[in-house]
Amino acid sequence: MKLKLKIPATTANFGSGFDVFGASLRIYNEIEMTAINGKHQEIHFEILGEGRKTLPVDKSNIVYGAMKKVFDTLHFTHYALHIRLINNIPLSRGLGSSAAARIGGLVAANKLCGGRISDEEIIKIAANLEGHPDNVAPAFIGGLCVCNYDGADVKCVKFQMPADLKAVLCIPDFEVSTNMARKILPKKILHRDAVFNLSRSALFLSAIIQKKYDLLSIAMEDKLHQPYRKKLIPCLDDVFSAAMRNGAYGVCVSGSGSTLLAIAARNMKTKCERIGRSMQKAFCARGIESKYIICDFCNKGVLISK
Ligand code: HSE
Repeated sequence: MKLKLKIPATTANFGSGFDVFGASLRIYNEIEMTAINGKHQEIHFEILGEGRKTLPVDKSNIVYGAMKKVFDTLHFTHYALHIRLINNIPLSRGLGSSAAARIGGLVAANKLCGGRISDEEIIKIAANLEGHPDNVAPAFIGGLCVCNYDGADVKCVKFQMPADLKAVLCIPDFEVSTNMARKILPKKILHRDAVFNLSRSALFLSAIIQKKYDLLSIAMEDKLHQPYRKKLIPCLDDVFSAAMRNGAYGVCVSGSGSTLLAIAARNMKTKCERIGRSMQKAFCARGIESKYIICDFCNKGVLISK
């Protein structure tokens, strides 16, 4: 059996939705899997693109870790697999590379086993592996996902991302580990900070649905994670100001960083380029190299072909 999957990059903590809003982006990792029945759990990995020199090519690879969850659940033991990963999503930059790997592994293994695990269960297993739901849900189903995770189960509603918006992603050349970026968060927050984010996240969703993009500058403000994670992304305020001065609707940290995301109008290519360049320049002023990508949001999740 042969299988090809494309899994999108994702931006978690989208807008002001810390651990709740995630959206998928038109940058894809690909998995090509060839499975032969009969042999006993032989795995061969080949990795191209991001992480080709650093990611493990044995059973400790997280794509296999996710596959094994499915195999164990369904008592599937006899297989030989050749897995080729073509990675385009930058690693440890807040663009959902680990979620794409896990969703890819789960979906590929489930397909191999006859699709016996439900979509809800896939998202749940993936969220439990990741520890948060806001990358895995949009990686799987696409669009803008509103996720509720109680530490075990996920409830999720998908909205379409409007086609007239673009994401300008400024990706600095340093990594941020999500583990570290979660440890840096306080155990307690002020009541007024909770209200601050609650009001903005409701406004964010309303602004996207009703296309009231002028509200995004306020609706994307955050007090739940960005103030604390500034320590890991030192020139965050300067990059945000540069993007806003150059016409972005709103700005946020993508996932736990290090990528910073600006939302802009899709039909204004030159403005998007200006925003990207200004963000790059603001990083550069602090001695940090970066690149920018002008990217579409996408409303489809995993794409499967044979
Ligand atoms: N919501 C997660 C966090 C996303 O901020 O830790 C990580 O990409």
